[in-house]
Formats: sequence, C-alpha cells, structure tokens
Amino acid sequence: MPIDAATLDPDPVVQLERWLAEATDAGLPLPNAFALATADGDGMPSVRYVLLQGIDPDGLRFFTNRSSRKGRDLAVNPWAAAAFWWAALDRQVRVTGPVRLLPDDESLAYWRTRPRGSQLSAATSQQSREIGSRAELEARVAALSYEHPAEVPLPSFWGGYALSPRVIEFWESRDDRLHDRVEYRRGPDGSWHPYRLQP
Ligand SMILES: Cc1cc2nc3c(=O)[nH]c(=O)nc-3n(C[C@H](O)[C@H](O)[C@H](O)COP(=O)(O)O)c2cc1C
Repeated sequence: MPIDAATLDPDPVVQLERWLAEATDAGLPLPNAFALATADGDGMPSVRYVLLQGIDPDGLRFFTNRSSRKGRDLAVNPWAAAAFWWAALDRQVRVTGPVRLLPDDESLAYWRTRPRGSQLSAATSQQSREIGSRAELEARVAALSYEHPAEVPLPSFWGGYALSPRVIEFWESRDDRLHDRVEYRRGPDGSWHPYRLQP
C-alpha cells in the first residue's frame, strides 16, 4: 500500500509503533532488532544490531554495556542513528537523534526481567574488550554464578539508553524501485513536519 503524509500517522513515533506491531503480527524474526550507528570523538563510525526494548516519550530504549564500544562512543558523542528493516514487508525505518542514559531504577527494572544466564553473561563480559579464550570467559561466568547464588546484582557498567527521535524516515518498496519515502523532522516546538523524499 502506498505511503504518504496523508496515510501515515501525523506522529511518526505512533507510526513506528504501528509498523513494529505489523512486523510482529507478520511473524517476522526479531522485528525489534535495529542497526544502531554511533561515532567516536574523531567521527569514526561503528554500527551493530541491538534490540528495541520499548518506546516511550524519551524515545527508543535499548540496553547494553556502557563501557562497550557503543557506550564509549555515546559518552563522547551522544548522537546515534537507527535503522529497522522488515524484509517480508519491504519496509525500512530510519531514526536519528540524541541519546541519553536511562535512570538506574529503569535499568534495574529491566535487568530483573532478564534470565539469570543473560544476567551472568552481561555481568561477566567486558563487552568489546579482547579476551584470550572462550574458556576464560566461561570460567568467569562460573565464578560469578558461585558468588551470586541468588540474585545477580545490576553491574555499574550496564544499563539502558533512550534515542530521542529528531528525524524519522519511513520507506516502503514500490514497483520499479520508485519507492516511497516520507521523512519527518521535529521542529524546535516539538511538532513534526513530514516531507516526501525522492527514492
Ligand atoms: C539481533 C541482535 C540483537 C542484539 N541485541 C543487543 C542488545 O540489545 N544489546 C547489546 O548490548 N548487544 C546486542 N547485540 C550484540 C551487538 O550487536 C554487539 O555485538 C555488542 O553490543 C557489542 O557492540 P559494540 O562493540 O559496538 O559496543 C545484538 C546482536 C544481534 C545480532
């Protein structure tokens, strides 16, 4: 179905939630996975997939190790870009904006929903740092599990972020690759302005 500013929701965050729900209903694998691009202080880019864990007024929420490469990038350059692609629906959404840390209580609330195995892995891993062998990593997980037989505490280096959209683009495939693209830009007063872009 063709998309334009008249058929999309005037609020692009609502529209993104709608497309996410449609991707979920279509049974697509990991519909909440998105490519997250960051850059370091020298402008060197870096991109990887993360999982969207919710959208709220602060933006797109994801969780990770704050000492990882992306965490270090965001500490010096708190801007990021995201891209979702839902293959079977032939749709893409791109989001750009500033990123802020989620408060500790929200990171803790999410941490507690994670399976113990995932908690142990996250607490053990000095994400993005070199390690000599997998055996070393597994030994550290075993030691940490022994140390915390009940609850695994939230590590100080792990938590959530929210990417607050400033620009959101909806792309949908059309015949002959004459695709539809509608980009919304957020004005200083918080209102959204849609534009059609050439494919
Ligand atoms: C589908 C998918 C989802 C992922 N989700 C997350 C995630 O939510 N958080 C995370 O820290 N890493 C996630 N990863 C791993 C990251 O892509 C990446 O390897 C890791 O975060 C280290 O990235 P960095 O070195 O750029 O910081 C995911 C990987 C894939 C393939």
